[in-house]
Amino acid sequence: MNAPSHPPSFAPSGAAPLIDPFARAITYLRVSVTDRCDFRCTYCMAEHMQFLPKADLLTLEELERLSHSFIDLGVRKLRITGGEPLVRRNIMSFFRAMSERLGSGLDELTLTTNGSQLARFADELAGIGVRRINVSLDTLDPDRFAAITRWGRLPQVLDGIRAAAAAGIRVKINTVALKGFNEDELFPLLDWCADQGHDLTFIEVMPMGDIGGEDRLDQYWPLSDLRARLAERLTLTPLAERTGGPARYVRVEETGQKIGFITPLTHNFCESCNRVRVTCTGELFMCLGQEDRADLRAALRASDDEALLQSAIREAIARKPKGHDFDYSRGVGGKVSRNMSHTGG
Ligand code: GTP
Ligand code: 5AD
Ligand code: SF4
Repeated sequence: MNAPSHPPSFAPSGAAPLIDPFARAITYLRVSVTDRCDFRCTYCMAEHMQFLPKADLLTLEELERLSHSFIDLGVRKLRITGGEPLVRRNIMSFFRAMSERLGSGLDELTLTTNGSQLARFADELAGIGVRRINVSLDTLDPDRFAAITRWGRLPQVLDGIRAAAAAGIRVKINTVALKGFNEDELFPLLDWCADQGHDLTFIEVMPMGDIGGEDRLDQYWPLSDLRARLAERLTLTPLAERTGGPARYVRVEETGQKIGFITPLTHNFCESCNRVRVTCTGELFMCLGQEDRADLRAALRASDDEALLQSAIREAIARKPKGHDFDYSRGVGGKVSRNMSHTGG
């Protein structure tokens, strides 16, 4: 059952928690610290992207203040995203600052990364209390990896993943299911994850933004099909366990490993949505699959008064829609105009 998460009765500050119009408690904030990335995945970005001017970015101190506000209002899980979060200059100072809220509002501080910079940062991330990270990896073939990321190199990412695991961080691999691209790697990816001790989550490709030339529908591989292929060979037992995100998990009885499915297209999970995302310019997106946004930068910069910022956040949460409108059959009506990298998922 995807029951809405149980609303907490109060936030740590004593403030009323953030509850949206559909009685969903907002306890998960995704903070995109940059729209830039050192890769150009073909389903995520066009090759030549117009990035935000640096002058438009919130400072790391402003992002900290914003995140503290959300935690004071009941957010318990903070996921740092991008673009690629680890390419933002001095990003560890932000991680260090937010880690001080672990056990003091926050249950989890984590990130989603392409892995390219992990070899540099894994030890420090582990040291400040990051226990679990999600790393995007769609193929184990170096040539295919170079093709899908345009600019990425597989060995660098595998080194990063090894460094994270060696530092004691649990790794969940995020694989976007791509028709005709990684269909034949379903079992090799599964075996590799089992061997390395990583969890694995498959994601349906979502129609977001201009990706230059490629046709989404040509990329879309429904997870209903992927799952049926797994079930032909393996025994999959659905698990009640949740990680706070949209994935629904099964255990593979033959290997004991855990596999997740993120199915915005074939099985909507919006009724249990607990999350919102802030971008590096202070826009708040209440839903990944809708265009509506709220400008928190204005409230942030208008004064140091927390009350003003908190009321801007509450006003936005009061507009959180019931769910996304992603739908390949509706053409432009079923997509959103911004790229995934704008909000980091
Ligand atoms: P866990 O904490 O491990 O559950 O992570 P997560 O799934 O919340 O985060 P991650 O950054 O790994 O996201 C995996 C995929 O889920 C990305 O493609 C996100 O865009 C997608 N995703 C996350 N939240 C939502 C959502 O609210 N709606 C939709 N449609 N997709 C989402
Ligand atoms: N659809 C689904 N997932 C996407 N990602 C990037 N673009 C898309 C898309 N259009 C994934 C990345 C990463 C996560 C944040 O989102 O692979 O794992
Ligand atoms: Fe970069 Fe992630 Fe987008 Fe790939 S999916 S281009 S790694 S932000």
